[in-house]
Amino acid sequence: MVQSTGPKKTKCAVFISGRGSNLKSLIEFSKKKNSPISIELIISDNSKSKGLKYAKIFKIRKKIFNYRNNSFNEKKIIRELNYYNIKFVCLAGFMKILSKEFIKNFKGKILNIHPSLLPKYKGLNTHHRVISNNEKYSGCTVHFVNSRLDSGKIILQKKVKISKTDTANSLKKKILFQEHKLYPKAIRKVFNL
Ligand code: GRF
Repeated sequence: MVQSTGPKKTKCAVFISGRGSNLKSLIEFSKKKNSPISIELIISDNSKSKGLKYAKIFKIRKKIFNYRNNSFNEKKIIRELNYYNIKFVCLAGFMKILSKEFIKNFKGKILNIHPSLLPKYKGLNTHHRVISNNEKYSGCTVHFVNSRLDSGKIILQKKVKISKTDTANSLKKKILFQEHKLYPKAIRKVFNL
């Protein structure tokens, strides 16, 4: 459990690489009076991330880091997070794997959302794999981040029924809709709210 800072919200950074629909839902959540987090920083490894537009819309600081040299750039990110007193990190469609060193710095304070019922379907192309395996259910998972891909302790999951007519694309949409509700719920749980 992360200790809530009382009426003051815990400063949070969201890491993205792409569209940023989870980022948007987290920003909206953070603005609620009873939300435990405030989003102070958006970090991306990709200057073309569509989600970066939310930095402008919601007037949140953004930083883009080139990830070609991981450890060097991670050190820069850690410095940045410390500078802004960030105590909590949400990965939301962030396509890079954070090093052990980075995770150690924020132990138990980094969350990720994955579009499957983990431990099933770790990694990429989840929906395609789920559909080709004729699964009856899929879903999404919010979990703590550890040094192994999509393997940290599960916080919450939401199951989604797959219909006969579902394609990878329709399933992605169904699950994304649930992701936007699950991530805030999982954060509340982590803060024991
Ligand atoms: C989501 O499906 C999330 O579960 C996965 O990457 C996707 C990001 O979507 N990790 P968005 O950028 O939040 O719209």
